[in-house]
Amino acid sequence: MTNVLPSLRVDGKRAVVTGAGSGIGRAVAIALSEAGADVALSELPDRLDSLQEVCEAIELNGQKAVPLPLALPQTDSIDTFVADAIEGLGGIDILVNNAGVNIPADAFDLTEQDWDQVQDVNLKGLFFLSQRCGRHMRDHGGGRIVNMASINGVVGYYKRAAYCSSKAGVVNLTRVLALEWAEHDINVNAIGPTFILTPLTQATFDDPVMREDLLKRIPKGRVGQPEDIVGAVVFLASDAAAMITGHTLLVDGGWTAI
Ligand SMILES: NC(=O)c1ccc[n+]([C@@H]2O[C@H](COP(=O)([O-])OP(=O)(O)OC[C@H]3O[C@@H](n4cnc5c(N)ncnc54)[C@H](O)[C@@H]3O)[C@@H](O)[C@H]2O)c1
Repeated sequence: MTNVLPSLRVDGKRAVVTGAGSGIGRAVAIALSEAGADVALSELPDRLDSLQEVCEAIELNGQKAVPLPLALPQTDSIDTFVADAIEGLGGIDILVNNAGVNIPADAFDLTEQDWDQVQDVNLKGLFFLSQRCGRHMRDHGGGRIVNMASINGVVGYYKRAAYCSSKAGVVNLTRVLALEWAEHDINVNAIGPTFILTPLTQATFDDPVMREDLLKRIPKGRVGQPEDIVGAVVFLASDAAAMITGHTLLVDGGWTAI
């Protein structure tokens, strides 16, 4: 019988997930292994311990887990990480650029140092890791890149001049890489999550004024959990999304439908 439906699985693929010891990255790494991929996971060098439990979950799914240090945007760290991921997995078919930071501050008070830190991790680091993995994919028949942008890449929000700018950069960088790399069969897409409850956002959610404001903006009536994001990532990494590239898929609970 002909199989008419493209697969939503990623069996036999080799995936890289950055910032996988926590929050969304952790859930994405485990979901990709459930969908059939081996996974190389990154964490900051002083947070490598946080990958242990994630690796155990991946191995319980019958897949290989390769925990590795990565400190964005340092290019020597990126180069070592990519070389070790290729060696550990045998190649890279899928890159999920998940690692990111937010340093909330009023625009009047935002320091140059904090501005640079947010841009460096969220945009510069994401680009140079994509470049290194993209070169490997180009030389080995193609691949998939999924960038963790944000609802804040398409709408503004208070105290997020640096963060919103960096994520808007990710949304448009996604289009550029999709255009340039389509001929190499490298699809580049992004996800725009709504407010997801993770260590990055817990303090904001604990502020009653912020919590009320956020909930007002999400027609679904709740904030997201990391597990709300994983279906979109696996889909964009799968054969079912073969003709989707340059797109930002908002997983926003209806925020932008208003
Ligand atoms: N939580 C949300 O509401 C939300 C919404 C939209 C987008 N996002 C994005 O999703 C991604 C994951 O966010 P999260 O909420 O799970 O946050 P998190 O803080 O739980 O995880 C961030 C991960 O990035 C890693 N990281 C931080 N700085 C790094 C650096 N310099 N080099 C390498 N790794 C570094 C951290 O160690 C951590 O593993 C981020 O890109 C974030 O901007 C989050």
